[in-house]
Formats: sequence, structure tokens, C-alpha cells
Amino acid sequence: MKKIVVGLAVVLGFCTCAHQPSGTLDVNKALDYCAKQTQRTLTELKTDSGIDYTMMPRNIMADEQHWNCRKATKEEWCAGFWPGVLWYDYEYTKDKQVLEEAENFTHSLKFLSHIPAYDHDLGFLVFCSYGNGYRLTKNPAYKQVILDTADTLATLFNPIVGTILSWPREVEPRNWPHNTIMDNMINLEMLFWAAKNGGNPYLYDIAVSHADKTMKSQFRPDYTSYHVAVYDTITGNLIKGVTHQGYADSTMWARGQAWAIYGYTVVYRETKDPKYLDFAQKVTDVYLDRLPEDKVPYWDFDDPSIPNAPRDASAGAVVASALLELSTYLPNGTGKRYKDAAIEMLTSLSSDSYQSGESKPSFLLHSVGHWPNHSEIDASIIYADYYYIEALLRLKRLQEGYGVLG
Ligand code: GLY
Repeated sequence: MKKIVVGLAVVLGFCTCAHQPSGTLDVNKALDYCAKQTQRTLTELKTDSGIDYTMMPRNIMADEQHWNCRKATKEEWCAGFWPGVLWYDYEYTKDKQVLEEAENFTHSLKFLSHIPAYDHDLGFLVFCSYGNGYRLTKNPAYKQVILDTADTLATLFNPIVGTILSWPREVEPRNWPHNTIMDNMINLEMLFWAAKNGGNPYLYDIAVSHADKTMKSQFRPDYTSYHVAVYDTITGNLIKGVTHQGYADSTMWARGQAWAIYGYTVVYRETKDPKYLDFAQKVTDVYLDRLPEDKVPYWDFDDPSIPNAPRDASAGAVVASALLELSTYLPNGTGKRYKDAAIEMLTSLSSDSYQSGESKPSFLLHSVGHWPNHSEIDASIIYADYYYIEALLRLKRLQEGYGVLG
């Protein structure tokens, strides 16, 4: 089996080298690099008839040099990340042209606020785009889009189970009566935000219920997570925990665990209930304990082909960003441990081993989208870039003595 997977790695051409952590991190240099790459992407997106603002950069495969874009439809869960990258880049550069492009791309997602929910990804789609846009501009029209979308997301909440349904489309074909994937933890941030910014206070209760039920049902005794929890809609009980994008039902899929770390950090921020702070640390520690030397995970911690399995820079970026926030809620010793780990992650991600550099306009190489589907293996993927620039900005704020969140 091992030989077959290593062979596959060679055929697919992904990097199986042992990356070493190197150098020290210069945050401004890394953000300048992001600004340069953002300009390269904007240039690449321009055609003779201008930019099509409904087409969002999604990925660049290992053997490609240019973005593959996808139409901003309700099915394209990644469509909010590119507008989010532009908002973060504008936050750093204060470049008015970047602001204008952030507004243009963000506008292409407005339709999501007035159609029925297709699935749970509305938080990714609308909070990365409109959420950052509102944070930076206080445009009241943006606020309304977020509030309306939060109400739409809430329609997927099942009070018997106590969580949000992730994939209505998988209910019948897979016989997953109520399915909740770990990624769904990220969508809670928009519900918390809406509840305290004029939306229905019930949105807060939904988010807390979702976090509690997920905590109870979607983790193994060692605090590693199942990607998918399948629930019975009559009893509300867990039927089974399985994977969709990981190596196997029993393994720790790196990005799933990353969503858990990020998600429970946000839930603690919004509730200040210490049980979530404790839980965020537990799901973090099992991840940190098993990282390779350069602190960027293999795509699944239990892929038997490790060390010849591809890394997942996207999980590395998500966790780096989360740990910078988590570190601020903890006493010096523990907080410093998480902050130092985040800096090590960002140092690796900012090295030649992971930055795309001149080779392509993305920020980062080496992410894995969907291994079981053989898609986006060892690729540049837009959400890796989004969480990378978010983490860099968080670190910059901390270094300059500001709060971690903008
Ligand atoms: N939300 C899907 C993923 O993390 O790939």
C-alpha cells in the first residue's frame, strides 16, 4: 500500500520533501509579498472587456501557473475568499484601487442574502467577503446582507438535533438524515455577529447549541474530530461519525481539525464560557503534538504514506490564525506556547518551501482540497491564501500592541 501511494505521489508530482523550518519571520515583508501577488492576480483577471467580477480565483494546480476561476454561484463554497483576500490586502495597503476591487467582487455575492439556503457554507461565503467589508467600511448595505444571510443560514438549524444541517443535498443519496461537517463551526461566527448587531438573538442560541452538540458528538476521546456527524432526525442522536475529505473515518483530517481549532476559539470569544477555551486547547494540543518539524501538517495525520504524503498549507494557515487569537485568551505561559507555535507555522509558510513566489500569483503552494476525489492535490487554493494573510495581519497587530482582531 505504502509503495502505491508513494508511486502516486511521484506520478502526481507533488512535493514529498521534508520541509525544514527556516529563517525568521518579517511580517511586513510577508504582507508586502501578499500585496504584490494580489496585484498579479488582479492583472491576470483583467481582459480586454475588463474584469468579470462573478469569476473568483479558486486554485492553481501544481503544474499550472494561472488561476482557475469559478463562477460565484450558490454551489461554489470558495467564492467569498478572494473578496476576503482583497479586503485584507486593502486593510494592509490602504490602496484605493484594491478597495474598489474588493467592493466589486463582494457585490457578486449579494444574491446569497435573498435566496433559500443551498447549504451551510453561507458563513464562509458572506462573512469572509461582506463581513470583512463591513468591518472596514461600516457600509450599512453590507450589514443588511450579513443579517439577511444569517437568517437564511438559521433555516438549516434542526432543533431536535441541535445543529445546522451542512449538506441538504446529501440527505437522500447517502442516507445521512441530518449531516453536520466540522467545517460548519466556521459559519457560527456570522450567527454570533448577527445576534449582537441587530439580528435575531435566537441566532446566538443556535450557534451555542451547534457548538455544544458538535463538542459532544463529533470528537473521539482523544479530541480528534470526525469530518461528518450523521444524526437521527427523530431522536437527535448521533448515528455515526465518518469522513468525506479525510483518509478514513478513523483518521484526523488536518483541515477538519483546523476548523475545530478555529471554531472553538471563536465560540470562546463570543461566549466567554471557559468550557470552550478548555476545549479549544484540547483540540489544539492533539494537533500540535503530531505536527511534523516545520509545523505544517500532512493533509491527513494518519495517511499511511507519511512522510511521503502531501502537506496541507491551508490547514497550517487556518491554525496559525486561530492560535494567534487563542493565545490572547490564555495566561502568559500557555498563551506564549500557542503564539510561538503560530509564528513557527507562519515562518514555514513564508519560506520558499511554501510561498509561490515568482512561479504563480497565489500566495501559497501545497494545499490539498479533496484527496478522496483526487482533486486539488498539492495545489494553491484560495482559502489557504485567505487564512495566511489573515494570520499575518493578526500577528502584525499583536506585534504592534493592538488587539488581535481588526
Ligand atoms: N469546507 C470544505 C473544505 O474544507 O475543504
